[in-house]
Amino acid sequence: MKNLVILISGSGSNMQAIVQAAQRDDWPGCLHARIAAVVSNRPDCAGLDKARALGIATESLDHRAFANAPEPRAAFDAALADLLDRHAPDLIVLAGFMRILTPGFVRRYAGRMVNIHPSLLPAFPGLHTHRRAIEAGCRVAGVTVHRVTEELDHGPILDQAVVPVLPGDDETRLAARVLAQEHLLYPRAIERLLREQLPP
Ligand code: GRF
Repeated sequence: MKNLVILISGSGSNMQAIVQAAQRDDWPGCLHARIAAVVSNRPDCAGLDKARALGIATESLDHRAFANAPEPRAAFDAALADLLDRHAPDLIVLAGFMRILTPGFVRRYAGRMVNIHPSLLPAFPGLHTHRRAIEAGCRVAGVTVHRVTEELDHGPILDQAVVPVLPGDDETRLAARVLAQEHLLYPRAIERLLREQLPP
């Protein structure tokens, strides 16, 4: 059985879409995969409530507790790795996890970590992707699922979906249409990844 752990920081709508797809399509049965836990760096985020309502184990690790460590980012990542390793993760799914991970952490889970980014990478890595796409006059925006490497939002692309930028679009409207596509794309990309890893 493969263990998936999903990392979130906010509303957790992508996490919810993944869990619902796993439950609907019977991932444990056909893909030998289970969502072992949902983990957040924000103990009060709405996504944790959604995960509990779906019957998934949750854990939180507040990054603010590490603010006074000599190297706060490295200290948080070390504690996160300890927590994750208790779930023996085969795949770590970043779903709106708003923390930049240290190179050491990324290397520890090399080949076992995926992310979703709301732009057509390599365009617009980083924040405010929808605003930047509108300001640049893009006719299309979109979403990318990619492997996580040490460089932020730059790992090999696993799948993408294109979303048109419509006349009169603002950041909020475009973000909502992109998010709807995220909810379709991410579960499909993870399912394909799991299927590829199945023994023949
Ligand atoms: C999504 O747009 C995702 O692409 C980005 O952060 C947002 C998270 O939304 N990385 P949610 O928490 O899954 O609702």
